[in-house]
Amino acid sequence: MTLAQTILTLLADGGFQSGPALGRATGRTRTAIWKAIQLLKSSGLEIYCVRGKGYRLAQPVELLNRDRIFAALDSDARQAVQQLDVHHEVDSTNARLLEVARQGDTSGHVCIAECQHAGRGRRGRQWVSPFGGNLYLSLLWRFQSGASSLGGLSLAVAVAVMRALCDAGVASAQLKWPNDILLDGHKLAGILLELAGEAAGPCAVVVGVGLNIRTPAAEMSAVNQPWTDLESVLEKAVLRNELAASLLRHLLHAITDFERQGLRPFMAEWAQWDVLMGQEVILDLPTGLLRGVARGVDENGALLLARNGELQRHYSGEVSVRLSAKVESATACGVGQ
Ligand code: BTN
Repeated sequence: MTLAQTILTLLADGGFQSGPALGRATGRTRTAIWKAIQLLKSSGLEIYCVRGKGYRLAQPVELLNRDRIFAALDSDARQAVQQLDVHHEVDSTNARLLEVARQGDTSGHVCIAECQHAGRGRRGRQWVSPFGGNLYLSLLWRFQSGASSLGGLSLAVAVAVMRALCDAGVASAQLKWPNDILLDGHKLAGILLELAGEAAGPCAVVVGVGLNIRTPAAEMSAVNQPWTDLESVLEKAVLRNELAASLLRHLLHAITDFERQGLRPFMAEWAQWDVLMGQEVILDLPTGLLRGVARGVDENGALLLARNGELQRHYSGEVSVRLSAKVESATACGVGQ
């Protein structure tokens, strides 16, 4: 653990800790403590410094804890998880696992971080990932089939995230094809699937989920589309370790179901939560914009678009979708979220 992480652990309960007390607890000088505090502030944490009292977090934070997450998994999920890493800061949890995938044949490796300094979003965007209580989670999974059979995987993952949100008490989130999770048109979670290895043979996929739980507004000024977070929606503090375990459990179950049966077991839930269904939409293709009416998805995860009396199929990764009506801003391009 770095000095900053040790200090964070000492401050996590929201109580005051004086500089000398932190110095004694860590065996470091007051200057070193001060520098570590500045480092924590620069990663997005709000820390008060009060003369005569010391340092205090603006809000207590439940730090992510590997053992607590693992203990909250069910036995199937525990068996499926080969390795569970919880980091304070990484470049990107997806990038870490892509590196793991390149080095061996691991499946079931999970990487979770308190913050990312190079979080990745879809279509080359950045995923702003400050410290402060969100969840950045990736899972490496090796499929025996080739990439061509994984067309609907990102939709199955989106359904898994929705199931975890339902368990957490969020009743009104919706899905926007291919895998955005929105609440009243505001982005609550994003999913990024990245492929490692050969597309033709057995392939490894890194499934990355970013879930806004407690998002420091100041850090999000670069995000140019409406976003929201779970604690604002639920109006209460969220137990992050429990939520991380629930998300992981749903992801693992969804992936193993998808391996056996494809998208079929997820279709009904997708239809129930599909924010585009029956809406007039605009598809942004490399060849130009297409206007039509969204008619759900097929079993390969393609968006069905009714246009000029025919039903067209459009596949994830090739197109972006913009609602032509009032929620249009929820899909604006630029920085992620
Ligand atoms: C999107 O643009 O909607 C997808 C965002 C995906 C973000 C998650 S956070 C965990 C994982 N690591 C990353 O770098 N990105 C994904």
